[in-house]
Amino acid sequence: MGALDGKVAIVTGAGQGVGRCHAEFLAAEGAAVVVNDISERANDVVAAIEAAGGRAVAHQGSVSSWVDGEALINRAVEVFGDLHILVNNAGFLRDAMSFSMDESQWDAVVDVHLKGHFVPSHFAAIYWRNQAKALGEGAELPQRRIINTTSESGLFGGPGQSNYGSAKGGIITMTLVHARELQRYNVTVNVIAPRARTPMTEVNPKFTKPETGFDKYDPANVSPMVGFLASDAASDVSGQAFIVLGDQVHRMHPAAILGSVTAGATRWTVDGLAAAKDDLFAGAPSGVPVWGGPPM
Ligand SMILES: NC(=O)c1ccc[n+]([C@@H]2O[C@H](COP(=O)([O-])OP(=O)(O)OC[C@H]3O[C@@H](n4cnc5c(N)ncnc54)[C@H](O)[C@@H]3O)[C@@H](O)[C@H]2O)c1
Repeated sequence: MGALDGKVAIVTGAGQGVGRCHAEFLAAEGAAVVVNDISERANDVVAAIEAAGGRAVAHQGSVSSWVDGEALINRAVEVFGDLHILVNNAGFLRDAMSFSMDESQWDAVVDVHLKGHFVPSHFAAIYWRNQAKALGEGAELPQRRIINTTSESGLFGGPGQSNYGSAKGGIITMTLVHARELQRYNVTVNVIAPRARTPMTEVNPKFTKPETGFDKYDPANVSPMVGFLASDAASDVSGQAFIVLGDQVHRMHPAAILGSVTAGATRWTVDGLAAAKDDLFAGAPSGVPVWGGPPM
C-alpha cells in the first residue's frame, strides 16, 4: 500500500532534475501522475514510471501559459478523473547582478517561476472550488494539496539573482495567500526550498556525488517530503515553508515582528526614530542579515 493510493497528482517541470524525482516518487507511492514539462523529456519520465508499474501521462506545455495551464489541469481530470495534488516545480535561472541584468533575463525568470506557479494554481483552484460547490454546503471535501517550490535565494536573497530571488520570494507569499484562500476547499498549500544536484546546479563542484557514503545532493532525497506533504498525514500542515536537502528538513520561521517602538499617539520624527533605534533593534544587528541557510 502506498501513501498516495487513489490520488491524482500533477508535477510541473518533471522532465528532469528534482521534478522528475517527485513524479517518480509520487507514482511509486500509488498516485497517478501527470508529468508536465516544456520539453519532450516528459514522455521519457512517463515511460520510466510505467516501466516501474506506475500510472502516468505526459503533458507538454509551458506553466506560464494561460492556455497550457488550463489544459494541464484538464488533462489530469480527463485522464485520471480528478486532481488531488499539484506540485509546482518548473523553472530555470538567468543569473546576473542587478547592474548587468537585461530585460529579457528579468522577464523570463519572473515569468517561469512567479507566473508559472500562479497559472496552474489558478486553474486547480477553479476546479476545486467548482467541485466544492457541486458537492454542496457542508459536504465532506476530498483532501487537496498544492506544494510550491521556492529557493534559499527566495528566503535569504541570493546575490546575482534579483529576478530569481524576487520570484521565489513571491512564491513564499503566494503560498500564504493561497493557503488562506483555499482552506475552505480543504486545500493545503506549502512550499519547499530544495537543494540538490541537477542540471541547474551540477556545475558547482560542491554538489558532486561522493565516492562513498550518503549522496547528500541526490535530488531523490527531496521527494519524500513532497510525498509527506501530499499525504493525508499532513492534512493539518498549511502555509508552511521548509528547506529540504539530503537527510535534512528545516522548518522556516514565517514573517514575524522582531521588535517594536511606539511614538505614543503622535507621529514619529526622524530625531525620535534615531533616538529609538536601539530599542527597535534591542541589541540585534541592524546591517544586512546573515545568510540563514544550512551549511553545504
Ligand atoms: N537544484 C537545486 O538545488 C534547487 C535549489 C533551489 C530551488 N530549486 C528549484 O527547484 C525546481 C527544480 O529545479 P531543478 O534543479 O530540478 O531544475 P532543472 O533545470 O533540472 O529542471 C527544471 C525543469 O523545468 C522545465 N521547465 C522549464 N521551463 C518550463 C516551463 N515554462 N514549463 C514547464 N516546464 C519548464 C525544464 O525543461 C526542466 O525539465 C526549480 O523551481 C528550481 O528553481 C532547485
